[in-house]
Amino acid sequence: MNRGQKEAYKRDYAQAKKEGKPFFPYAVYKDLIVATLAIGFVIGLAVWQRIPIGEPVNPATTDFVPRPEWYFFFLFELLRIFKGQGALTPVIMATFIVPNVLLVLLLVTPFIDRGPERRIWRRPIALFSGIAVVFLLAYLTHLGSEAPAGTEEVQLENLDPQGQAGLDLFLANGCLACHTVAGVGAPGPGPGLTDEGERGRGIEYQIEHLRDPQSTTPGSSMPAFASLTDQELEDLAVFLEGLGTKYTAP
Ligand code: HEC
Repeated sequence: MNRGQKEAYKRDYAQAKKEGKPFFPYAVYKDLIVATLAIGFVIGLAVWQRIPIGEPVNPATTDFVPRPEWYFFFLFELLRIFKGQGALTPVIMATFIVPNVLLVLLLVTPFIDRGPERRIWRRPIALFSGIAVVFLLAYLTHLGSEAPAGTEEVQLENLDPQGQAGLDLFLANGCLACHTVAGVGAPGPGPGLTDEGERGRGIEYQIEHLRDPQSTTPGSSMPAFASLTDQELEDLAVFLEGLGTKYTAP
């Protein structure tokens, strides 16, 4: 802003201030009325239409696929963008780094954009950035809403029928709640299993560990899967031993 612009701005400001009404009480008074109406409307709706929050909780479910509310789909999609680069990278990038970098950019905008111009068509960069952000959010929301449910996404090459049976059991028993395979699942508390086969545990060990984790790994917090049949345990063990050796992530 040069000196001329500054003078002009000060003149306009003094003029507007002389003609305008003070913020308090006029603007505060209007805000108060609108806010009261809006909150009253929401309370009215809540009393009049009793909408349940969601399905009742079923603690026994094993195939629940957590999905965010629609207005978080863009963040959900960010998680998917950073997927497959280590277990924690997506969480750190999508829920901390990217949103906070954008937030900081927003906070420092007044220090970057020092121009006095307020007419929007004279500010092409600001106009373009604003529209681009809205479009990007809408696009990510759309992608997030179309994203396939989490469990379908474990992609492994060279799965034979027994490996496939093992994978199905792996998905159905909620193993992904504590483990990752090929970039899918939770990064903890269990170790990533993408290369479990390379540890050379052997089928016997895997079955023993699944039946009673404490027996092979004292102090283990993994639940016992003793209710699985012998055949199921074997399929799971073959699947686990094949991870990283036979069944590889693309
Ligand atoms: C509640 C969390 C949890 C669930 C659910 C869970 N695990 Fe684990 N898992 C762990 C933890 C913690 C460890 C590390 C301690 C241990 O090795 O027992 C582990 C370890 C493992 C290991 C490594 C064993 C080794 O020593 O190489 C395998 C393989 C494994 N789990 C398979 C499975 C399978 C298959 C399922 C589903 C049927 C499953 N886990 C479900 C928490 C879990």
